[in-house]
Amino acid sequence: MSDDWARYYQALAGRPPRPTLVYAARRFARPGLAVDLGSGGGRDAAPLLRAGWHVVAVDREGSGHAALRAAVTPAEAGRLTTIEAAIESADWPIADLVNSSFALPLVPKAAFPLVWRRIRERLAPGGRFSGQLYGPRDSWAKGGSPDGVVAHSREACLRLFHGMTIEFFEEEEHDGLTPKGRQKHWHIFHCVARAP
Ligand SMILES: C[S@@+](CC[C@H](N)C(=O)[O-])C[C@H]1O[C@@H](n2cnc3c(N)ncnc32)[C@H](O)[C@@H]1O
Repeated sequence: MSDDWARYYQALAGRPPRPTLVYAARRFARPGLAVDLGSGGGRDAAPLLRAGWHVVAVDREGSGHAALRAAVTPAEAGRLTTIEAAIESADWPIADLVNSSFALPLVPKAAFPLVWRRIRERLAPGGRFSGQLYGPRDSWAKGGSPDGVVAHSREACLRLFHGMTIEFFEEEEHDGLTPKGRQKHWHIFHCVARAP
């Protein structure tokens, strides 16, 4: 698996940050503390650091953290904390922004409710969540089978943000390629929501 992710980080190196992250970060008057869950090679974390944010990057793959550290200046690295752990067992501080791009659906299904509760509890007042969740028709959801990724219907996805203000919500569904060039059906919800 580590080799797989290392190849994924290489394939995506140099790509711009995810639009959900950019959308959320622009809504803050000033940089604060961001937690990036499943930070990978730092596609979102590096631009946050560049913009003056303090960043806690959580990923169980150390090679992603190494790529991120290699991509930032010493001053930026001074604002970076890396946690090499599974999202479901990681602890992180109260944050202004919790970002998770294309990573949350990869936590074990049984752990998702706890992870989501922790994300909500650790958002500062007025803090934001940005990231992706998968829909049930995504190939990787495997029709809801136990070994598929965590998937939510559109309604269930919207319910996750109960009590928050949804600032951006887009459903994407099409046949396409993975970053490694394999065919798949994508069914994704792109989300940004603000805590009260
Ligand atoms: C599809 S990549 C996305 C990386 C990055 N967020 C981006 O948008 O480019 C998913 C990342 O989540 C990490 N990951 C997957 N499941 C995880 C888990 N349960 N705990 C921690 N990291 C996990 C992988 O190591 C990988 O870096």
